[in-house]
Amino acid sequence: MPVHILNHPLIQHKITLLRDKRTGTKDFRELVAEIAALMAYEASRDLPVEDIEVQTPICTTIGKTLGGKKLALVPILRAGLGMVAGIERLIPAAKIGHIGMYRNEKTLEPVEYFCKMPADLAEREIFLLDPMLATGGSAIAAIGALLKRGAKLGSIKFLCLVSAPEGIEALSSHYPEVRIYTASIDQHLNEHGYIVPGLGDAGDRFFGTI
Ligand code: PRP
Ligand code: URA
Repeated sequence: MPVHILNHPLIQHKITLLRDKRTGTKDFRELVAEIAALMAYEASRDLPVEDIEVQTPICTTIGKTLGGKKLALVPILRAGLGMVAGIERLIPAAKIGHIGMYRNEKTLEPVEYFCKMPADLAEREIFLLDPMLATGGSAIAAIGALLKRGAKLGSIKFLCLVSAPEGIEALSSHYPEVRIYTASIDQHLNEHGYIVPGLGDAGDRFFGTI
């Protein structure tokens, strides 16, 4: 499945602001939400629509309405939560599941600590949300958790703001059916598993826990 690199000028401009170490918590939060909304606009491009009759003040006409499967937004905690804020404004009827996951600082292996999904997950299109795709371990584990709860692989799109080539390679070879949307594929991971140039620790910058 191809990786969608969202190189729209507005997204790229906002990603640069997000990378800047001088950007404080308030602006960082706003930017994450704005970029996520712009990314969701692209990721929802292929959602099916149906014809519906609508009465305007002038006459009756046929308009389009979202059809097909309903959507679930699934942020990987903590940092994925910030992306929900932007997308739920565009798609307010989406249900929201949560996966709590953190990386062990030494091994970089993901540790799952929470999972709560909509009961009808199997019938939904899923936007899995995490600003960062580094080694890919968290995304792969999160997809495993979704599959355990009935999600269909072909219904999952993974949206991340910044990714490393290592994470793209790991995720796409593990789950080639999952479509990846990212605003940037950066250079590489450093010896601590951080994306270079990246934006630092997304969760800490978003929540102000540095
Ligand atoms: C960050 C990020 C991803 C993960 C990516 O979360 O938000 O979930 O790292 O790294 P990976 O691709 O190597 O798995 P972190 O573990 O820092 O947890 P936090 O969001 O609670 O800070
Ligand atoms: N998680 C982050 O928040 N940032 C990175 O660069 C890598 C993993």
